Amino acid sequence: MGRVLPFSTQDGAARDVDSGVLLDVDDVTLQYKTDDRLVTATYKVDFQVHRGDRFVLLGPSGCGKSSLLKAVAGFIKPVEGAIRLNGEPVRGPGPDRMVVFQEFDQLLPWKTVFQNVLFPLRARGVPAKEAAERARDYIAKVGLDRFRDSYPHTLSGGMKQRVAIARAMATEPEILLMDEPFAALDALTRRRMQEELLQLWDDVRFTMLFVTHSIEEAIIVGNRILVLSPHPGQVKAELNAHAFGHEKSEGFAALENRIHTMLFADQPTAPVKTTRAARP
Ligand SMILES: Nc1ncnc2c1ncn2[C@@H]1O[C@H](COP(=O)(O)OP(=O)(O)O)[C@@H](O)[C@H]1O
Ligand SMILES: [Mg+2]
Repeated sequence: MGRVLPFSTQDGAARDVDSGVLLDVDDVTLQYKTDDRLVTATYKVDFQVHRGDRFVLLGPSGCGKSSLLKAVAGFIKPVEGAIRLNGEPVRGPGPDRMVVFQEFDQLLPWKTVFQNVLFPLRARGVPAKEAAERARDYIAKVGLDRFRDSYPHTLSGGMKQRVAIARAMATEPEILLMDEPFAALDALTRRRMQEELLQLWDDVRFTMLFVTHSIEEAIIVGNRILVLSPHPGQVKAELNAHAFGHEKSEGFAALENRIHTMLFADQPTAPVKTTRAARP
């Protein structure tokens, strides 16, 4: 592993991405302690995200995708294994990792679009003038110029997600963490948002770790896809994807089928009880 292939962009031009490892998730086991039992969310999950990657975590509901993202964000700690960013162990949340969630209520309702995007910049000490410029710039990048002074409750779900993306990106984190950001949108808006995200990536070249349970979305959005098995999540495969957007090539369908078979093979025929910790 650790190899990044050039991938095609919309106009067919091949580009290389920087091949340095940015995020190292090293055999990470995550568990939750509840009153009466230990829940193992992921078991020895191992992957590396390189600079410029659009890295997707794909798997069925409950396989530990959100838990992995939370661990990378520094909200929860692995019971086994390690997470490193630029070689440094992750010890807690930090401005180098920003998260965009699925929920439409992640914006501050009493602040305008502009104020929402500005807030984390000012909180982290970016001078007023530069912060305002950056906020305006990223609001424009997500196409919301005209809604700069609007309040969240006046925006559609897709627009709210655009603001959340602009807000996270304006702080220029090392890595953007996205937990099913389009899952609550209608199908058409979701499609549009996937394309816009790719355009933004083409424009800004950021690194992202993107969580989804949709095989199609994984192929559209990702250049690399980590397929996780159901509860507890374990790595089934790591795949390269070259689709970039909605263009449905033969390769797209083949990859879709391959992942489908992979995930379908996991379906339990009878209810599975989790009794033991730390082992699947
Ligand atoms: N706070 C928690 N306490 C106990 N169990 C949890 C908690 N959060 C998640 N889990 C369990 O961990 C497993 C993985 O959850 P999650 O990471 O949310 O999966 P996904 O995002 O893939 O749907 C599930 O079995 C879930 O019930
Ligand atoms: Mg989740």
